Amino acid sequence: MAFFLALVCILILLAIASYVQYTRWQKGKGRFGGHGRSAPLKLPPGSMGWPYLGETLQLYSQDPSFFFASKQKRYGEIFKTHLLGCPCVMLASPEAARFVLVTQAHLFKPTYPRSKERMIGPSALFFHQGDYHLRLRKLVQGALGPDALRALVPEVEAAVRSTLASWDAGHVRSTFHAMKTLSFDVGIVTIFGGRLDERRKAELRKNYSVVEKGYNSFPNSLPGTLHYKAMQARRRLHGVLCDIMRERRGQAQAAGTGLLGCLMRSRGDDGAPLLSDEQIADNVIGVLFAAQDTTASALTWIVKYLHDHPKLLEAVRAEQAAVREATGGGRQPLAWAHTKSMALTHRVILESLRMASIISFTFREAVADVEYKGFLIPKGWKVMPLFRNIHHSPDYFQDPHKFDPSRFQVAPRPSTFLPFGHGVHACPGNELAKLEMLVLIHHLVTGYRMTHGWLLPLSMGLRL
Ligand code: HEM
Repeated sequence: MAFFLALVCILILLAIASYVQYTRWQKGKGRFGGHGRSAPLKLPPGSMGWPYLGETLQLYSQDPSFFFASKQKRYGEIFKTHLLGCPCVMLASPEAARFVLVTQAHLFKPTYPRSKERMIGPSALFFHQGDYHLRLRKLVQGALGPDALRALVPEVEAAVRSTLASWDAGHVRSTFHAMKTLSFDVGIVTIFGGRLDERRKAELRKNYSVVEKGYNSFPNSLPGTLHYKAMQARRRLHGVLCDIMRERRGQAQAAGTGLLGCLMRSRGDDGAPLLSDEQIADNVIGVLFAAQDTTASALTWIVKYLHDHPKLLEAVRAEQAAVREATGGGRQPLAWAHTKSMALTHRVILESLRMASIISFTFREAVADVEYKGFLIPKGWKVMPLFRNIHHSPDYFQDPHKFDPSRFQVAPRPSTFLPFGHGVHACPGNELAKLEMLVLIHHLVTGYRMTHGWLLPLSMGLRL
């Protein structure tokens, strides 16, 4: 009996909450008439689900791709929903993604939960827009631009060789973990320019892995919880980075190469340092964070796609065998020019990025009421361009569920291929990520053979 009474009370409360929320949205709709038009703008189609819960349970109880795809099928390229306590507008067309991320980017700011900002560091590039973001972005782009990458090829190759050597020694837990080790190592050489001693590197690795474990945990400050441990590790990371900066300032060859050097040398118009140590540390942690799991996931998917397409694997192997010849059978190091001659491998990378769509969507928040194609995107609502929906739409990619690298012999239509985002916040690390993939694939297919889900070195006597 008590149970039924409780149930009835909950239902009544939900009904009241629904009504309150509904009337709030209705009132909001009235507000949206003030655009110099006679009729108020309407919200996009879609469903807001239960009060407060919205459609969060639906999203988490099924494959998220299915959730977004079925909504798109029902409502079209723009629809509303309510997730994790926030009203959202989802956008599933290249035109809409361009509107939010490129042409009207000033109307949509990056948005992340406060707890995530505190964990990465509130001054990190991707939390900002406007002047600070632009200046910082120029510095990061410079450190990851073609000249810097050309010089990084030997370091990337050394990291790849060392990862593969650890596989030979049997230290592989899973492909993804192995790829994470690689992408962390490449992140470290990119940031510190190959001038970091092993002790410092181990300190960074250890603390960073604790931060990572707590990143998605419930935010609270209870000692012993994953979140608490992650925040403690974050403080230690910050300390290590400040020590490294202090040491570098005391050395003849101050600052050094790599992203850290660029950030430390940056000066404002008055000649004073542009960034404080705090801001530099936040950005170093931010870049490590942006670089590691993304690249590791892409590498893992590439291994899987190659494994699943033996004919393609043979063709990639033939292309890479020719490159190996050009390096004297692997006796000379790979050079930038070699990586530019890997056309088929490059297409495999692009197709893997399309198929896997590692970053399925991104978040922004409307900073004002915005009209898009006659619909209103209200101020304060989250806005999500759905990259995966665009990548998997037959309107832009013929037979989208087929793994077919040859589709990239022709450049995709503008704003349809967005694995690295679009516009002012598009990934500045995309060329580095592709370089890492090319170098890994080169060594993988010329030195290993895939059999029954295992990678075996050719040196074990197995034939190709
Ligand atoms: C396959 C690997 C990668 C993928 C798929 C990827 C994807 C993305 C995407 C989609 C964005 C834009 C997010 C948004 O608009 O909200 C982004 C931003 C960013 N990425 Fe990457 N990324 C990868 C690798 C890297 C690497 C290797 C680095 C650095 C070494 C990096 C650094 C960044 C930074 C700093 C931003 C923020 C840029 C800004 O806000 O201006 N990423 N990435």
